[in-house]
Parts: sequence; structure tokens; C-alpha cells
Amino acid sequence: MEAVALAHDLRAVFARLGVDAFLSDWPDLVPGRAVAARVLPVCRWLEQAVAGAPPDLVPLVRGLREGAADLPWGQTYGAQDFGAAFLDGYGWTELIGLRGPMASCRVAVGFLVLGPGVDYPSHAHEAEEIYLPLSGAALWQRGDADYAEVQPGACIHHESWVPHAMRTGAEPLVAAYVWRGGDLAAKSRIVA
Ligand SMILES: [Fe+2]
Repeated sequence: MEAVALAHDLRAVFARLGVDAFLSDWPDLVPGRAVAARVLPVCRWLEQAVAGAPPDLVPLVRGLREGAADLPWGQTYGAQDFGAAFLDGYGWTELIGLRGPMASCRVAVGFLVLGPGVDYPSHAHEAEEIYLPLSGAALWQRGDADYAEVQPGACIHHESWVPHAMRTGAEPLVAAYVWRGGDLAAKSRIVA
């Protein structure tokens, strides 16, 4: 599935969940920017993620898997941040934002993928954020709270500068994200 179609389907999923406040700033979903495709090792987990997604989210995850080779996958961190093993199981692709194929300076929208057994340490950023896990039950932490398992289909909200962390178990995680406010291309601040 191409980026524009993915964004359409993702917007429809968010609309069903009633997170309208995060949809009002989305631009018209037309390709406005030429971006070079770049695949990362983490994309190898998308096949398993399709198999593990709940039925209503399978089409979106399958669309991501089918379109992954044509999308610009990136990593905000380097090996000096969380180690080389982390980079082998981590990546994201932006559909809408300062870098993605659909331009916006108000929101950044994309997908995060984590392989199994990945510990994404606590980090924080100025942008307010929602995550929607699409496949893979993972442990999520917000602020000083304990890690708690979140199932696909349950929205997660992080206010500006609230630290958050994720840990995957046996399943890879695919989660859609929306950022709004702040620097939409900022590297997150690692929370010691
Ligand atoms: Fe975040």
C-alpha cells in the first residue's frame, strides 16, 4: 500500500477511536514531497506483525508490510545511544510531517516498529503524542508509573515532555503515532 493510502486508512482507524483532536491538523492527503525509499532491518518483523494483529487492524498492518519497501524508514538514535542491538530492532517511517511524503508543519504521523525483545528506554520530547499499537502486546511506561501491558487497539497519550518507554516480549510491536506541537523532527531527549 502506498503512503497516501496508508494515511487514509490510518486516519479512518483513528476516527473510529474518537481521537478527533489529533486529526484536525492533518493536511490533505496528497503526495507533496519526493522521498527516497530506505528499508531497515526491523522491517523483517512486519510479516509476523501482520499475523499477530487483531482482525480489524490486519488490513492496515498488511498495507504497511506491502508498502514498506517503498517508504523512507529512519532511526532517530545511533549506536551510542542504546547500542547496536537496539538499532537492529527499531525503526520508524513518517507518512506526514517535516520529512514524509505528505508535508505538514503541524503534525507528524507515522509508524514505529520494534522487534521482539527490544527495550526502548525512557525518553521525552516536546511534541504531544498519541500512539496506537496495531500489532503486538507490549509493555509501556509513562512518567514514574510501572510498566503496563497495552494491547493493540488501545490508544496511548503522552503529553509534552512526559517521559515514556516501551518493552517488547515475544511479539514485534507495530504502532502508529501522531505528534503535534513542538519540533516535529526533534530527537527525543533520553531520560537517565
Ligand atoms: Fe514518544
